[in-house]
Amino acid sequence: MAVQDKLRLGVNIDHVATVRNARGGAYPDPLRAARAAQEAGADGITAHLREDRRHITDADIEGLQEILTVPLNFEMAATDEMQTIALRHKPHAVCIVPEKREERTTEGGLEVAREENRLAHFIAPLREAGCRVSIFIAADQRQIEAANRIGAEVIELHTGAYCDAFADGNWATAQKELQKLEAMAKFGHDLGLEVHAGHGLTYDTVSPVAAFPEVQELNIGHFLIGEAIFLGLGPAIAEMRRLMDDAREG
Ligand code: PXP
Repeated sequence: MAVQDKLRLGVNIDHVATVRNARGGAYPDPLRAARAAQEAGADGITAHLREDRRHITDADIEGLQEILTVPLNFEMAATDEMQTIALRHKPHAVCIVPEKREERTTEGGLEVAREENRLAHFIAPLREAGCRVSIFIAADQRQIEAANRIGAEVIELHTGAYCDAFADGNWATAQKELQKLEAMAKFGHDLGLEVHAGHGLTYDTVSPVAAFPEVQELNIGHFLIGEAIFLGLGPAIAEMRRLMDDAREG
C-alpha cells in the first residue's frame, strides 16, 4: 500500500452540539457547522453519537447523512443500539471508540486484544454493509495487531497522551509519546491498515503528527470549535489545513 501524500482533515463537530445543548434549543446548528467546514476544506465530518446523547443527537446524524457531500465518519461505542443505528444509515466510515459514561471525553483507546472475538463479530455486519471500519486505539503494538486480526480496515491512533504531555509542558513525555505514535503508524501501515490519528490536536501539536507519512487522516474537533469563537470556523480550519500541508511538505 502506497503512502499517501495528501493528508485528509476530518472535522469533528460534536462541540457545536455541546454549545447548542447548553440552552436546549436549535442554535448553533451542527449541520450549518458541517456545511461551513466542508466549504472551508474539510475532507470529512466526524460526529460521535454517545449513549447519553450529550452532544450529537440521532436527528443530527440523520441530517448529516442527508446534507454532506464529504464522507461522514460516525463515531460510536460497540453496543447493539449503535450497531443498529449505523446499519440504518450506512455512513462512509464507522469509528469504534470506547465510551464511559463518567468520562469528559474519549479518554483512552479501545481494548481490542481482550475483546477480539466480540469485536470481530460486532464489526462484520458493518463491513458487509459497506462501512469502512476504524478502531480508535492507543499506540500499542498488541492492540494494533488485534485490530488487524478482527478485520478493521483503519486504525485511528489516540494522540491524547502526546497532547496532554505537551499541554503540561512535559517535553520528555511528549517526545516519547510522539516516538510511539511514529513507530506505531509505521507498524500499522506495514500491516496493511490505513492509519488515522486524533484527539486533543491543536495548532501547537499538529505538525509532528501531520509529518508522519503513514498517517492519512487527522480528526480534530474541540480545538477547532474553540478557535472558531475567535477566528470563525472557516479561517480556523484553513489555518489547521495550512499547518498540516506545511508539515507534510517538510
Ligand atoms: N478522534 C476520535 C476517535 C475521538 O473520539 C475524538 C474526540 O471525540 C477526536 C478524534 C477529536 O478529538 P478532539 O475533539 O480533542 O480534537
